Amino acid sequence: MGNAKRIGVLTAGGDSPGLNAAIRGLGKAAIGRHGMELIGFRDGVRGLAENRCFQLGPEALSGILTIGGTILGTSRDKVHRMRMGGEVVDAIPIIKDVVEQADLDCLVMLGGGGTAKNALRLSEAGIPVVHLPKTIDRDVAHTDNTFGFSTALEIATDAIDRLHSTAHSHHRVILAEIMGHKAGWLALGAGIAGGADVILIPEIPYSVDAIAETIRARQARGTNFSVIAVAEGANDTAAAQAIAAAESLKKAAGTPQEKAAAKSHLARVLDDHREHTFRLARSLEDATGLETRVTILGYVQRGGTPCAEDRLLGSRIGTAAADLIADGVSGVMVASKGDGTEPVDLKKVAGVLAQVPPDHPWIQTARDVGTGLGD
Ligand code: F6P
Repeated sequence: MGNAKRIGVLTAGGDSPGLNAAIRGLGKAAIGRHGMELIGFRDGVRGLAENRCFQLGPEALSGILTIGGTILGTSRDKVHRMRMGGEVVDAIPIIKDVVEQADLDCLVMLGGGGTAKNALRLSEAGIPVVHLPKTIDRDVAHTDNTFGFSTALEIATDAIDRLHSTAHSHHRVILAEIMGHKAGWLALGAGIAGGADVILIPEIPYSVDAIAETIRARQARGTNFSVIAVAEGANDTAAAQAIAAAESLKKAAGTPQEKAAAKSHLARVLDDHREHTFRLARSLEDATGLETRVTILGYVQRGGTPCAEDRLLGSRIGTAAADLIADGVSGVMVASKGDGTEPVDLKKVAGVLAQVPPDHPWIQTARDVGTGLGD
């Protein structure tokens, strides 16, 4: 048994629906059940390094379950390379001091893949850390789900539903660009649920010819419109190969000079492929003769009230974190497993991207209902 008295909490990375539910779940269980004190840090690891904190009491935790975003604020900083006072510094020793001065027995970090890496760095520096997996991308390894995904899935599905109206009325091809970073979970899930005719995900490089063929086959059956769900990370085969080659070069780079060169090469390659959805739209218009439009769903996907599933997931994971801390557990992510939760060593989670496996049942489902995957 541990004897944690004071715990810190912060939210980092992109805001995600369900963050407040998780903060509330953590706080209610920590304060109410375990008699701990909860200290909130503003704006992610930046606020932690700058020691911007305040006591999170029961009043602050009340009325936040249904609110989108995060009451704590967020940022996308790296603990080992943070811009502070005009220079880039390793903020880990600074953070260690803050944690010691605040007399924290554990720090709870709510975030996605980047936060898992930050959490591991802090844990390896001797700070007791617990990570709670949130992201609309659902790309965190060793957890069944991440809070934020279900709400984003609802929003993206609703958008695809609504885009069908213009697509069929105007006989157009409409491409809906869906978030997800380097993973296709959101586009695939929303594409299936919204009945997209083609779904493009990063895990399956596409060919313009294959997509045009699917659209033409629909035209041949008398259907002069198509809705395409495009993951923001999707690429055609040539781009996917160029990106993979640049990424391997970066991994293999040894000297600082090689690393810098490989990094800027990768940035250039990625830059070349920006706005690929608009280029794809032009190619499809040329290939099919159908008017083609793009809708970028953007931040709408992660805004507003969390759905019931994310409130439940955030509450489950948040309360479970308080129980684990009370038991003296740290250095873990609290994973969702079935209806329960499970601590997973941060070393197994950090730096591992959970993409859609090629044999995933959702891919088969999409194919079985006749959806093109661009391959
Ligand atoms: O990780 C969540 C996410 O919304 C991704 O889907 C997207 O690629 C990214 O964040 C956008 O990041 P930012 O909020 O920094 O623009």
